[in-house]
Amino acid sequence: NIHAPKAPSIKAFAEAIGQAAALPSNYNSLVDPRDKDEVDDSLAALIPVIDFSLLTSKDPEIHAKAVHDLGKACTEWGFFLIVNHGMSDNLMKDVIEATRNFFELPDEEKQEFSDTSAASPLRYGSSFNVQAESVHFWRDYLKAFTHPQFSIPNKPAGFRGMSESLGLEANAIADAFGFDTDFQFYIANLYPPCPQPELALGQPPHSDNTAITLLIENGIGGLQVYQRGKWVKVKPIPGSIMVNIGDQLELVTNGKYNGVLHRVTLNNNVTRVSLALAHGPSFDKFVCPIPEIVKDGKLEFKGMNYGEYFYNQQSTQLVGKSRLDLLRISS
Ligand code: SIN
Ligand code: FE2
Repeated sequence: NIHAPKAPSIKAFAEAIGQAAALPSNYNSLVDPRDKDEVDDSLAALIPVIDFSLLTSKDPEIHAKAVHDLGKACTEWGFFLIVNHGMSDNLMKDVIEATRNFFELPDEEKQEFSDTSAASPLRYGSSFNVQAESVHFWRDYLKAFTHPQFSIPNKPAGFRGMSESLGLEANAIADAFGFDTDFQFYIANLYPPCPQPELALGQPPHSDNTAITLLIENGIGGLQVYQRGKWVKVKPIPGSIMVNIGDQLELVTNGKYNGVLHRVTLNNNVTRVSLALAHGPSFDKFVCPIPEIVKDGKLEFKGMNYGEYFYNQQSTQLVGKSRLDLLRISS
């Protein structure tokens, strides 16, 4: 059994061992029983697609229908694709290209950014958390905190639609997060070809620590979302943006919205690049279920400071929904 070094670059390692090599045993990730769950191809066609131009429509009927569809997507799937979002194909291509170019830098240059602390606002690394894991993942990444330094244009409209879909005041979710001081970070992922892709994963089954994550990729595919006890392959629609509902939205909605469980699968011939823009509350924000949602039902979660949640999740192993489960109130 070859044991790969805990080296920061999977790209360099993959190139060094070549495509005919056996997968190093410490990358064999089929240890979570959920990984053996069936992949269902029939559900893929049901992945919700949200037309952003309808969500922002001035026509009350069109808007109401779009809000309803958005609520259904967040509740049933916790995942959807956005089309007609206004971000040009060229801009998306350029961003992916720039991301790819970073990973093409010589290893020594990328190492300058390597940092194992989740508190570091800029860090390059591999897998998820090599210190805490028993099994590693076939992925290089670059993570950067990008806001309060700069903000994202489409966010308020999207969040207003979600509040309305829950029958709340338009700003209810934004208020629950304190979005005047929200936090945003950027995660670039590189998944090099893997010699035995059926044995390894690019990212384990997990839900995001965020409120919402927007994701684009270079058209290869590999992301799968968990739905009705099956893994569903997400087929990238060119020009669309993929959206994950994260743990913070599951928390504030008292479990109404689904912080989607997802994982990244691999292939053995082409490099996949993906880019995530993750949005969450500011680190000092105490996040808990919105009282109006809980009203006559059972309180499902305890609250917590987002900063603490973020650091905990980033500095342990990434395992399913284990971080959010710690806040779950048992009956
Ligand atoms: C992620 O899980 O945030 C990344 C998903 C992907 O690379 O598609
Ligand atoms: Fe994720």
